[in-house]
Amino acid sequence: MEQAKLTALVQEMTLAEKVDQLLQLAADFYSQAAEEKTGPMTEMGLKDENIQNAGTILGLAGASEAKRIQKEYMEKNRLGIPTLLMADIIHGFRTIFPIPLALGSSWDLAAAEEMAQISAKEAAVSGLHVTFSPMVDLVRDPRWGRVMESTGEDPYLNARFAESFVKGYQGDDLKNDFTRVAACVKHFAAYGAALAGRDYNTVNMSERQLRESYLPGYKAALDAGAKLVMTSFNTVDGIPATGNKWLFRDVLRQEYDFDGVVISDWGAVKELIFHGVAADEKQAAQLAIEAGVDIEMMTTCYTHYLAELIEEGSVDEALLDEAVLRILELKNDLGLFENPYRGASVEDEKVILSPEHRQAAREIAQKSIVLLKNKADILPLNSEETVAIIGPAAASHDVLGAWSWQGKMEEAVSLLEGAQAYSSHLLVGKEEFDYFAPSQKAVAEAVSLAQKADKVVLALGEAEWMSGEAASRSDITLPKAQIALFEAVKAVNPNIIVTLYNGRPLDLNGIDEAKAIVEAWFAGTEAGNALADILWGAFNPTARLSMSFPESVGQVPIFYNCDSTGRPYESAPNEKYVSKYLDVSNYAKYPFGFGLSYSQFSYQDVVIDQTELTPENQILLTVTITNESEQTGKETVQLYIQDLVGQVVRPIKELKAFQQVVLAGKESRKVSFAITEEMLRYVHQDQRTISDAGAFLAMVGPNSRDLTAVTFNLVK
Ligand code: BGC
Ligand code: BGC
Repeated sequence: MEQAKLTALVQEMTLAEKVDQLLQLAADFYSQAAEEKTGPMTEMGLKDENIQNAGTILGLAGASEAKRIQKEYMEKNRLGIPTLLMADIIHGFRTIFPIPLALGSSWDLAAAEEMAQISAKEAAVSGLHVTFSPMVDLVRDPRWGRVMESTGEDPYLNARFAESFVKGYQGDDLKNDFTRVAACVKHFAAYGAALAGRDYNTVNMSERQLRESYLPGYKAALDAGAKLVMTSFNTVDGIPATGNKWLFRDVLRQEYDFDGVVISDWGAVKELIFHGVAADEKQAAQLAIEAGVDIEMMTTCYTHYLAELIEEGSVDEALLDEAVLRILELKNDLGLFENPYRGASVEDEKVILSPEHRQAAREIAQKSIVLLKNKADILPLNSEETVAIIGPAAASHDVLGAWSWQGKMEEAVSLLEGAQAYSSHLLVGKEEFDYFAPSQKAVAEAVSLAQKADKVVLALGEAEWMSGEAASRSDITLPKAQIALFEAVKAVNPNIIVTLYNGRPLDLNGIDEAKAIVEAWFAGTEAGNALADILWGAFNPTARLSMSFPESVGQVPIFYNCDSTGRPYESAPNEKYVSKYLDVSNYAKYPFGFGLSYSQFSYQDVVIDQTELTPENQILLTVTITNESEQTGKETVQLYIQDLVGQVVRPIKELKAFQQVVLAGKESRKVSFAITEEMLRYVHQDQRTISDAGAFLAMVGPNSRDLTAVTFNLVK
């Protein structure tokens, strides 16, 4: 449909129809079972016409159901406007991929794009048009359960992933390519900085910090073309995001020139009341529409009060019209006026969870699993040794992780199932093993199997419900029963390889004496296969943490790109009056960028081709990487920079680039990075993003800790 027709359509709509266009309801309201909707309808004070005209629906899937609802909707809609179906497709639709934090560990942007593309394909064929993804909230506090939805603690890496997700979901021709869906970047803004890691808690930071660290991820998603933005539940400088005019009008709309749809998070418009910035639903509606929130998800402040606010002259009808127009434009961008059923196809069963999709999920999971420790090369296992596979996660299908709505545990592969392909010398228990309170019988059986084995794979971790939304933890250690199990096993067999399924960086105290630790996260439908591929060496690990593992929760928030202090510990480690703890180090147990391989890589000869950088030229930094082992492996070479003297205190290092290189056994190769002035820009006190002339350190290495530095100068 042409733009002029869309504008004309808005004019044709009645005030009530326009207001309804801004309402988003859950799929239950369109259920064929009358009793499912009557209760909620009364509760929310909704009439049939609100439901018939509500602009968008969330949480519906299945091609035939999507078609039925669209057909009935269009029959009842006076102007033949189609509805728009949205849902949370976060790391896969039915084929579940590793959680985003695990994808972040892959440092593999093509893998993220592929996962998004497959997710879109399965979602689109099941009738969906929009996914509430990517979530690009920068995260620094592993107590927050939603770190599992993010790609981690680094603004640069998050931004690169944000682009890849958007490309994968949307492709480049949303209007005609019905295997794609529109992406909704969230949660604008800074939801990841919830105080003390408690979900929905206050966020408070300077505008400068917001711009420097937190906004780049969202901005990158928008630059890649994300069609929607979701508000966050938190406050931004004292004002809840969902009613924050500065954030949405000044920053998002004006500065970023975003002309897509803004949707509230679930219930967030009404929550302006509980935040205490609106006295009632009417005021909440006014704050949200003035801030620029187009769609109200699952509350009815607009539905009940927007017309009244307009009629009494408190709200300009132009605000409503522009919101409606943006929603119609999105429907049009998706081709829904011409093709209201879009990709929905009853053939969906052939597309979803296809063997190709499962294979992609397995390969992406392999790339997301981080080898944290491998003492004396206890891994990889060989198929001749006797291996006991025990512990609560050994036979568990709880491997999908939160936000895997359409994923089915029974379709997922457990570690035990994956291991069968590699060995006929597995010792496996019969008893059910609980994550928190295993029976004495189960523990006794596990210990006796461990005693008989050459090596023990002890499968531990969090249950799915322990991370995700509303799943903050103040203690991020493994459940006590699991540590007790580790102790009991260690007493009979010290050759322990711990595998972990979890949704956040953990405090790994209690399993220090494990010979190997393999962080598998929630790796998705193919988790067990991918993990076995790594344990038996069919896949040589490549993943690197994108979020630091603390030594203890007391260090949290802990992140590699922290600011310089006035009393740095490193300057005087024996001095009392320096920035440190009395009882724990300043350092992460496993830092950002860290991960091992079965190959060993060494770094030599870090050189730069010149020591002076100007805004016009670039410096080439070159390092020689050697694979010291016999085995082909992939190394993730990381470039960090520190601005030694800034107008504003600078982080001690910041990731600026990385490259993944595959080296055959004993191969050496030169890897080069171009350093440009643009990489040195940061947000100054006056909010301008510029660079400062002066000295910088360029650091290169395999992770954020083990780096070799060279100095250069920016001359302007
Ligand atoms: C979450 C969002 C999600 C929405 C819709 C909210 O509770 O914060 O991330 O997209 O629900 O399910
Ligand atoms: C402390 C001050 C104290 C000063 C002199 C500093 O290290 O931070 O509080 O007044 O020493 O003792």
